[in-house]
Parts: sequence; C-alpha cells; structure tokens
Amino acid sequence: MSEAVTGALEAAGQERLAASIRALPAVPRDAICRQVASLDLTLVARLVDELVRAPVPTRPPVIGPAEVDHRPSDAAGVSRRRMAFEAGEQALREGRVAVVLLAGGQGTRLGFPHPKGMLPIGPVSDATLFEVHAAGVGATRRRYGSDLPLYLMTSHVNDAETKDFLARHMLFGLQPESVTTFIQGMLPVVDHLTGDILRSAPDRLALSPDGHGGIFRAMGHAAILGDLEERGIDIIMTFQVDNPLMRPADPEFIGAHLLARAEMSTLVVAKTAAEERMGVMATVDGRTALVEYTDLPPDLGGALDDDGGLVYWAGSTGVHCLDRAFATRLATGRAALPFHRSGKRVVAVDDPAPVGTNAVTFEAFMFDALPLAVRTATVEMAREERFAPVKNAEGPDSIATCTAAMVARAARWLEQAGVAVPRADDGTSTFPIEIDPRCAQSAGDLAGRLPSDLIVDGPLLLDR
Ligand code: UTP
Repeated sequence: MSEAVTGALEAAGQERLAASIRALPAVPRDAICRQVASLDLTLVARLVDELVRAPVPTRPPVIGPAEVDHRPSDAAGVSRRRMAFEAGEQALREGRVAVVLLAGGQGTRLGFPHPKGMLPIGPVSDATLFEVHAAGVGATRRRYGSDLPLYLMTSHVNDAETKDFLARHMLFGLQPESVTTFIQGMLPVVDHLTGDILRSAPDRLALSPDGHGGIFRAMGHAAILGDLEERGIDIIMTFQVDNPLMRPADPEFIGAHLLARAEMSTLVVAKTAAEERMGVMATVDGRTALVEYTDLPPDLGGALDDDGGLVYWAGSTGVHCLDRAFATRLATGRAALPFHRSGKRVVAVDDPAPVGTNAVTFEAFMFDALPLAVRTATVEMAREERFAPVKNAEGPDSIATCTAAMVARAARWLEQAGVAVPRADDGTSTFPIEIDPRCAQSAGDLAGRLPSDLIVDGPLLLDR
C-alpha cells in the first residue's frame, strides 16, 4: 500500500511528505499511509496550487446593497410576517422541517478546551449551549406534534467528546431516533510558503475541519439527504452552536423562506456599527452574497444612505434555511463551493517552533452557496431577540455579553407579560433571569402562564 500512497503523493506535488513517509519504519508508515489514502489528493493538489503556490489574482467584484425582507414597520409588514409565521407553523406541523446544528468548529478564539456546545451559558442554570439548543428543539417538537429531527455536524476534532457528552446527558431528553450526528470532512494543513503537507507527529498528518461549507459534502457522505427525503422533509434550517438566542426551527424565518420560494435564505440582524466584525449581505456581481467584513472596502463599509443609516447594515447571523433539492445539488458536486485559505500558527514535526503564521488551512464557507441559489431571501429579525454569539474569551461576543443578552431578553419578556423587573441605574436587570426554551420561546408564550403574584426579588429561572 505504501508505494501506491507515496506515488500518489508525488503525483500531487507532495514529494517532501512522500520522502518522509518512505523513511519511516513499517508500523508508523502504514498508519500515516491510511490517513493519506482517505484524502482527496486531486482536491488537495488544486487547493495548494490555486491558494498557496500560484495564487491567481482575482478581479475586484462589483458590490451592491442587498434586498432585505425588513422587520415590520407598518401594518402591512406585520401582516406579511404573520403570514410567514403561519406558513412556518404549517410546515412544522406537516413534519417538513429538519434542523442542523453546526458544531464542528475548533472555537480557537474562545479557547475553551472542549467542544463549544459544552460551554455553560445559562445565566442562572449554567445550562450548556447544547442543552439550550436541545431544549429549543424539544419544545418545538412538542408544540407542533411533529418529528423535527436534529442533525448535529461535528468534526474529528470534537466528535468523540461531543457524542460522549450528549450520551451522558441522555440527549437532554430528545428521542435517540431523531438525533443524528455526522462528521464533516478534514483537509490537510500545509506550509504557508511551499504548500507541503505538515505532520502533527511523524506518523500523523496535521488536519483541520473543512469549514462549515463542508456541510453539503458531509450530508451527502452520511446519507443525511436521503434520510430527509424518506422522512418527507424538504426544509433544512441550519444554525450555529454558539448563539443561544437563536430559536431552532423558527416558524417566522421558515415561513419567510417558503413564501419567497427561496432555495437558500439568510437570517440577518442590524450591525451595531460599521466596524463590527460581522459579514454583511450584499450583491456581488449582481447575485446575493455574503461579504466578510475583511473583504468589504472601508468606503463601502462606512457608506451611509440618505437617512444616515449604514448601506451595508444587514449582518449575517450564520443561520440559513435550505431547500433539500438545493442542498443535494451542492452535496453531489453539481454546484461546488470555493475554498478559502486561512493563515495559522501550527506546531508540526516539520516546523516545531514556528514564529508567527507558518501554515495554511483550507475552508469552505456555507454562505458561498448563496450566489449559486436560483432564488434567495434575506430575512431581518430583531437583534436583541435572536443574536448573541459567543466567539471570544473577552470583549465583544464573549460569555459576558451573551449572558447579558439572555438576561435582557428574559427581563423584556417578563415585563411584556406584566411582571415588574427591578432594574439598576444603567437599565440592566438587578437579578439574573433565565427562561428555559421549554417554558417559553417568545414573549407571547408567557401570556397567562405566570403566577399573578410573581415577584422578581432574586435570581429567577423559569423552566418547564
Ligand atoms: P466560526 O466561524 O465562529 O468558527 O464558526 P469556530 O470554530 O466556532 O471559532 P474560531 O473561528 O475557531 O474561533 C461558526 C459556526 O460554524 C461551525 C462552528 O462550530 C460554529 O457553530 N463550524 C465552523 C463548523 O461546524 N465547522 C467548521 O469547520 C467551522
């Protein structure tokens, strides 16, 4: 086997790795050869050529503002969203929806030494991100009396620990037959100058998850799309593990996607400022696309409209709705996502003490599917209701800002239900308050459900 593998590596321009493998004793040589054999070397050779060894300069794209289905600001808007909500509810009742939780990332910025879903986030309960999402799925399932399967995308980096954690917590009460985990692909990490594949140990390749865009191939490989078809499901809502405010299978978003007859939809919220590090929805060369904050020229990023608002204000939450047939086109390679390079500092046997960036990882991004869709919808929702991700250990988008947003939303919902919430001088709730999704998924859910003598005079957890 090893001669075939090293020959294939040489053909793919990886002579250095081939020579290192030949120099190994038989047992470690077989181990690394098995890893190499599982790679798509044709793809790796193309990525190394196009993104590392001989990058071809691309012409700057023509960027324009996106068309957005705005939050309602008048009676017509309210009735349009009501129709969307009802269409979403109908689809849920008919069992046409599945949710996919993206949880394959490495969470490098947060630096939490476990899968991000294991991060305790409940301001009172310390419930983990996984528990909050599972509670939301369970509550939706009960509400609509439907199956609503949950698919969880992991990667080799965190698959075993994620599965073990979920098993220990008995899937947080979800039925095993409607929870499926699947693993996204991995791609080799290469030297940032030469494109040579790096090794994390003499007999092990340095590998990295292939990005959230890997969802399409992974769903194909794991036969998820066929499973969905058998279950009569044609709508897939995907969301990210790090945002506990997101409502899984949100009827309003699903309905807006359906009424627009979109193949792929994006849930957006208003950016807080031009400088916020958040990708924005736009048109690129005339097609709907997401432009990363690093790719938006500063004159566009800061551009204002006649009312003084940002032209590029629609920040992506990373939440999408997909039509199953569209996802199948991407999974089978009939429509393919581009890959991007990302510079990293990686300790490798071939480079044991790097100073600064020494390596490149390759990732596909889910939002790159947008320009490939025949029709898209960009649906705005209230930021304070739907978006507070945990990305960083400190500062913006940290555990502190996320739990503060959870408490602020719970306090608002209570007040809307007629309960007085004591507030400090800066307007924040005096006490931590948490509302478990099994108790309520919107302010309206609380109406008529709270004891009339409810007084908030200490930390408060409203669970089922
Ligand atoms: P991010 O882009 O924020 O990446 O992922 P991350 O891995 O969580 O954090 P950093 O960038 O290393 O600090 C957004 C969502 O996409 C998922 C993540 O798990 C998260 O839910 N994701 C990301 C994947 O599922 N696979 C990937 O390869 C990358």
